[in-house]
Amino acid sequence: MNQIWDPQRYRHEAAFVARLGEPLLDLLAPRTGEWVLDLGCGDGSLTMKLVAAGCSVVALDSSAAQVAAARERGLDARVADAQYLDCQAEFDAVFTNAALHWMPRQAAVIAGVRRALKPGGRFVGELGGAGNVATIVAALDAELRARGCAIEGLNPWTFPSADAFRALLDAAGFVDISLECFARPTRFERDVADWLTLMAQSFLAPVPTTARADFLAAVTARLRPALFRDDVWLLDYVRLRFAARVPA
Ligand code: BEZ
Repeated sequence: MNQIWDPQRYRHEAAFVARLGEPLLDLLAPRTGEWVLDLGCGDGSLTMKLVAAGCSVVALDSSAAQVAAARERGLDARVADAQYLDCQAEFDAVFTNAALHWMPRQAAVIAGVRRALKPGGRFVGELGGAGNVATIVAALDAELRARGCAIEGLNPWTFPSADAFRALLDAAGFVDISLECFARPTRFERDVADWLTLMAQSFLAPVPTTARADFLAAVTARLRPALFRDDVWLLDYVRLRFAARVPA
């Protein structure tokens, strides 16, 4: 995957990711003394809130740069790919926000989470659901095709439907599964080209560096009629929020 995270830029331009993920903390209802695994912690903004709630948190991310930023906050953050979790009944809860859609092997993630949880442990999180940023993906595809680029394999995201994700949780042995899939048009206060260069780097890879500015301008022009309202970009996010637990 051609995606490089710059923690400083992420903190400056994508603070909304953690802010809009805060309602998940209520769903998790962390308790003092619990051991929590945070999957895809990024720079650790939300992880800090788990620590503030009195939890002992192990935070994982596949980006070494993001892990370094999380460690600077004093967190126990580690570089790891959540598709290959290797812990056994260690955690009271596993938490994840806006990370699972970067992991194509979602069944493997869920099976690993199931193993990592103690009996009765909770798995609570949110990811992009079916149709997430579909307008943006369509505009990127169209402009790539217009330049003769093959688009196969460029899309790094897996946005499951509620039914598909429920089936994965169910197959892994989770119970008391609740899921909600909802549109959450998301304000992006900067230009959409900034979102594209921050979040959609793998779509830019086939475009020569010298042609990137033109490409981004063309994608922006395609998106403007659908996503630019009252002087602000309103991105077509769809969230899939879930909670489930391991039998006691
Ligand atoms: C999301 O949080 O839904 C998302 C973030 C980056 C790229 C695509 C989707």
